[in-house]
Amino acid sequence: MKGKTILVTGGCGFIGSNFIYHVLSARPTWRILNFDALTYSGNLVNFKELSSESASRHTFVHGDIRYGNVVDQLFADHEVDGIIHFAAESHVDRSILGPEAFVDTNVVGTFRILDASLRHWQRRGKPKDFRFVHVSTDEVYGSLGSEGFFREETPYDPSSPYSASKAASDHFVKAYFRTYGLPTIVTNCSNNYGPYQFPEKLIPLIILNILEAKALPIYGDGKNIRDWLYVIDHCNALVKVLEDGKPGESYNIGGEAERENIQVVHLLCDLLDARLRREGRGPSRRLIQFVMDRPGHDRRYAIDAGKLRSELGWSPKHSFEAGLELTVDWYLAHPNWIASVQSGEYRRWIDLNYESRDRNDLATS
Ligand code: NAD
Ligand code: DAU
Repeated sequence: MKGKTILVTGGCGFIGSNFIYHVLSARPTWRILNFDALTYSGNLVNFKELSSESASRHTFVHGDIRYGNVVDQLFADHEVDGIIHFAAESHVDRSILGPEAFVDTNVVGTFRILDASLRHWQRRGKPKDFRFVHVSTDEVYGSLGSEGFFREETPYDPSSPYSASKAASDHFVKAYFRTYGLPTIVTNCSNNYGPYQFPEKLIPLIILNILEAKALPIYGDGKNIRDWLYVIDHCNALVKVLEDGKPGESYNIGGEAERENIQVVHLLCDLLDARLRREGRGPSRRLIQFVMDRPGHDRRYAIDAGKLRSELGWSPKHSFEAGLELTVDWYLAHPNWIASVQSGEYRRWIDLNYESRDRNDLATS
């Protein structure tokens, strides 16, 4: 892929931004075309710290994957050698309160970008090294009991409108390989954390609430388990998949770091208390509040990433504790970024999601 142009959809979101920083530094001949609609979770300010050399290989195009004419224009204006498709509505709780946007972006939007990619690939004479990497989630597999792991052949069994929409998009991506030969690959990754994550997700939400001495909302009994992966380890896996992954295949990506939500929140409380040393406040653990559970809340996720490890030689480099320290330190060092994303839309979401939980009437709000 030397000197190639990679189209990154959703490059202004959490994982997309980290991916762009990572790739521009790890692959000094690549150019990135970043196509993003700048929804509430996409932020151009994320690229303030790009070096001028990296910035010269980063082109931003403002556009929405739901519109076929806009996507066609993108491919008419630019030659693209590979695609990493991140753009999506990504938050499970939002999908419960407003599922339609998830169908529009994650299913219809993915179809539009996939279909335009097929025509682009055909027009260019079907280059063998072209890749369409679809960034999906372990949530498509549903929930595990206390035993076992998700493998690539685990049947899909999504629980939320978010995971159902991602599952549908995965099926379209695979169908385009089988039917038309478009060299697509699906990745199914576990929970990411790290810099630039929008503070609606558990880890950044808890960090910000501890900083502001607000309640720390824990859904249900706090014993749901997620498998946490530091975002840069995910980005590294995606580069490997883009360069060496086999078309038509799926690859599971995970951090080998299963933790109960309550353990994650305890760690964050203790880490921030040690960093901040605030006098007269008492331990942050006193802010923990158990609130109404997420409907359809998957109990446990755990990934078997053996295929990626044995076929492409990938493994996570950050332990959960080390990654969490890096993450906390990044948020402490970026108060301006935090202020820039805590817009009216952010406050509206916090009121909608957590006030209705207090009233125990989430399903009807
Ligand atoms: P995010 O919400 O932080 O970012 C999504 C980005 O997509 C934003 O920049 C947004 O502006 C853009 N976008 C949304 N709708 C769009 C549209 N219609 N057209 C163009 N751009 C649009 O999400 P994230 O956490 O960075 O997740 C990125 C991808 O990775 C998603 O597909 C998600 O399903 C997948 N994923 C996320 C995780 C995780 O833990 N965050 C884990 C596994 C897989
Ligand atoms: O597994 C991969 C998925 O991880 C991605 O596909 C999604 O895009 C990403 O958002 C994430 O989904 P989760 O629902 O697991 O992440 P979230 O941070 O929303 O929640 C993590 C756990 O914490 C989950 O069990 C719900 C719980 N939770 C979450 C919030 C926001 C709480 O207890 N309280 C909260 O306020």
